[in-house]
Amino acid sequence: MKVLVCGGAGYIGSHMVRCLLAHHHEPVVYDNLSTGHREAVADVPLIVGDIRDSETLRTVFDQHCFDAAIHLCAHSLVGESMNKPYEYYQNNVFGTLCLLEAMHEADVTKLVFSSTAAVFGHPLAPLIDEEHAARPINPYGASKWMVERILADAAPAYGLRSVSLRYFNAAGADPSGEIGESHHPETHLIPNILRSALGKGSALKIFGDDYPTKDGTCVRDYIHVNDLAEAHLRAIRFLDQHDGAHCFNLGSSSGFTVLEIIEAARRVTGMDISFERASRRAGDPPVLVASNVKARVQLGWRPAITNIDDIVRSAWLWHSQARY
Ligand code: UFG
Repeated sequence: MKVLVCGGAGYIGSHMVRCLLAHHHEPVVYDNLSTGHREAVADVPLIVGDIRDSETLRTVFDQHCFDAAIHLCAHSLVGESMNKPYEYYQNNVFGTLCLLEAMHEADVTKLVFSSTAAVFGHPLAPLIDEEHAARPINPYGASKWMVERILADAAPAYGLRSVSLRYFNAAGADPSGEIGESHHPETHLIPNILRSALGKGSALKIFGDDYPTKDGTCVRDYIHVNDLAEAHLRAIRFLDQHDGAHCFNLGSSSGFTVLEIIEAARRVTGMDISFERASRRAGDPPVLVASNVKARVQLGWRPAITNIDDIVRSAWLWHSQARY
């Protein structure tokens, strides 16, 4: 398959590209390099372009005959989205419309879209399945939910086949150590813990220790980035058999508190990682854990790397020798 990977130079995108190559497919990356890294996709064609640039997108579809597109381009920080909602809706919603129109003109009918657990806002159930109501509480989650709605409307109108994959907490890195998570600034927990172990970045802070959880810190469902990538491939195959718009929650079905992740990092690094207790971060729900039953049953997907130490160890391999 020839697959357009929008946002392919980013953290999840670059793992996606490796996964496609490993399965002998042909990825073409489209990325504006605002948060992505050229070094992460050195072995594949890279078109530097913005998702809101309809003209360049049209040229790309004129020049290539794609079997499917995977769309991972997005602004993705919850806190930032609260302060810059126009930028989030512009990039994440308008940008997606530009891609969808270009796909429609080129008659490319299969799309896998990166959605997020943030569509659920403050979930009411301990394990979130796809029946759970989407009630986003920040512009980032709302922008992704709006796109899911657009995809639902595009199915009957244009025959677009789509899968929205709601990622829970993407974590870890490819075991090669050649690609990994590199955000500037970094806001995510595991990279912040490991960078602090390496003496990089500012002092590690725990945002809130008074949540209604077992140790007072937030619970998240950490899912290895290569397992996420694998789910996209399965989603494309699923679209060969199914029309319409579909969504799947991608997580491991088990959660860890912030303190448990720090403990895992201590075991993996052998270092005594210190931290400060700070106030809650705006927009953080106390618990986000996915039910992955639907993805297991319908996509035949199951995460291969479920041990939290293994996930943190793969991230450590990257952070201890990060190339970009
Ligand atoms: N945290 C800290 N200290 C840090 C960084 C994070 O205590 O230095 C805490 C956060 O407050 C949160 C947990 O660690 O409780 C996880 O935070 P991350 O920033 O790593 O991840 P989030 O759960 O906030 O965000 C992830 C994705 C988002 C997605 C969201 C769904 O990165 O794109 O899950 O809620 F929207």
